[in-house]
Order: sequence, then C-alpha cells, then structure tokens
Amino acid sequence: MAKPKVFVTRVISERGLKIIEDFCNAEVWQDELPPSHEALLEKVRGMDGIVSMLTDRIDDEVMQAAGASLKVISNHAVGFDNIDVEAATARRIPAGNTPDILTDATADFSFALMMAAGRRLLEGDRYVREGQWKTWSPSLLLGVDFKGTTLGLIGFGRIGKAMARRAAGFDMRVIYYDPLEPRPDPDIKAVGVELDTLLEESDFISLHTPLTPNTRHLIDSAALAKMKPTTVLVNTSRGPVVDPEALYQALKERRIFAAGLDVTEPEPLPPDHPLLTLDNLLVTPHIASGSKTTRDKMSWIAAQNLLAGLKGQHLPNCINPQVYAK
Ligand code: DGY
Repeated sequence: MAKPKVFVTRVISERGLKIIEDFCNAEVWQDELPPSHEALLEKVRGMDGIVSMLTDRIDDEVMQAAGASLKVISNHAVGFDNIDVEAATARRIPAGNTPDILTDATADFSFALMMAAGRRLLEGDRYVREGQWKTWSPSLLLGVDFKGTTLGLIGFGRIGKAMARRAAGFDMRVIYYDPLEPRPDPDIKAVGVELDTLLEESDFISLHTPLTPNTRHLIDSAALAKMKPTTVLVNTSRGPVVDPEALYQALKERRIFAAGLDVTEPEPLPPDHPLLTLDNLLVTPHIASGSKTTRDKMSWIAAQNLLAGLKGQHLPNCINPQVYAK
C-alpha cells in the first residue's frame, strides 16, 4: 500500500522525524527560514498530512490547496494561533498540538528571564565585555529583590501554575488573572484577582495566555500605566499580547523597571527596532521551550498526532475535538 504523503514545514528533531519518515512519504522543508505562504500553498498540494510550525499560517486557503486528501494538521507547538481552527473544523480536519511536555522548560525560561531582567544580568555582562569594570561599586547596576514580592501571572494554565510552583521557592506571593481558569488549585498557593488588581499589586508580571482577539495588546499603555515603577514584565506567550509601542514608551520613561521578552511583535524583531535601543529590555528569539529534551518530545508528540490522524484515529492532543462529534 502506498505510504501517506505529508509535508513537514521544517527539520524537526530526529526523534519525531524518524517516526514520520518511516510511516510516510515525507517531504521536509530544509531551509532555515520557513516556507513563504505561496511555497506552502504549492507544497501541501495533494498531501494527506501537514506538520506545521508556529511560523506557518495554516489558513483555509492552505487547506483548500491541500485538497480532499488532507486528513490531519499537526502543529509542532502548544500554541495554535497560526491555525484557522474554525476552518479546519468546518472541513472536519483534526488538528493537534504539543501541550504538557514543554511546560517546565517554558516556566524555567520565564523565571530565568524574570531574574535576568530584574537583576540586570545582561547589562552586567555588557559592562564587563565593554571594559567598563574598573572597581567594585556600592551602587553599580542595582536590581530588584524577589523574596516577599508579588508575582502576577496573566494566564493560569499549565505554564502559569508551573511558575507559581517555582515562585514558592523564592518566598513570593502569587496572584493570577485568568477568566478561563477561575478555580483555585488546592496544591498551589495562588489567589485569583481582577486584572487591574494584578497590574497594580504585582512586582513581577509574567504572561502565559494564548493569543486571541481578547488578549491582543492586553498589555497596552493603560495596563502599563497601572504597573509600579519597580515592576518587571516578562512575556513568553505570544508577542502581540503586548503593544510594543506602549512598552517602548513605558521602558524609556522608566515607568516600569524592566522587561524580558522571548516573543515579540513583530517576530523576528528587526535589529533597528526602537525597543532594542533600551538597556532595561532583554530579548531572546522565542526559545522558551528550547531545551534539547523538550524539542525531542515535541517532535515525538507531533509525530503521534500526525500518525493518528493519518490512520483515522483520534489525535492524542486534539485542539478541535468537535471534528469527532457525530
Ligand atoms: C509553543 O509551543 O507554542 C511555543 O511558543 C514554542 O514552543
């Protein structure tokens, strides 16, 4: 029997790729840069499955281009704002994502960003490399404290809760805002609050919400104006949750202390972007889930979702289970 045809939009970890290549006739996009939308439309033609990345816009046009053979879309990410889920559901195409296994890697990285921005690690490194370190100084590059402060989590799903567990080890009080997760978790010491309370009371604010029409530019100039001048803001969710112009002004005028961004709007952030002129901003290139083990597991789960879809079985991690409704 002929193997199913699949298009994998980037070289993923060998662990998942091998499973895909053994079972399928797989075409893997080899470039470092993602396929353009036009290339995607061309490549998916007649495919049974697509393994997509968060950089690929999988819209109705792509599904239409793939044609009637398309049985499954497997996103190599937990976030799926790059997929038109409604269109996939209307076409009864199951789509999968890779939750759970990247929770700890992402929370570790968010915490690292929070600490690095709060304690000015990169400024210190630059200071040394630029030959400015002449002596110890009582007032050199002073940062903020963690113990006894308040961490505000916007989004209290898996990653938000993992942040709360880490914060307990630093003797921080944790509050959260999540209209979708209002239940207190008995195992985690954290209190649900209104958004304004969180913005006003938090010393650190970390974003762990999906990108939806409701969360786009949730952190705008009005939200930033409610934060304390000592607040550190961290974003490892999706770039457009923060309005970049508003953040630039707030950081430049020192209306908040610092920010650490692993995700930006736009992404990638061009090297001449105004945000990159600021000392009190730390930026990394969307690598929060980027540990070797985690990416291996992500590729494995993406492969499992793909294979299940190709075999007509339920995806282990399906983002539109409505497709299975009778
Ligand atoms: C995701 O999975 O959504 C992250 O942004 C990348 O791992």
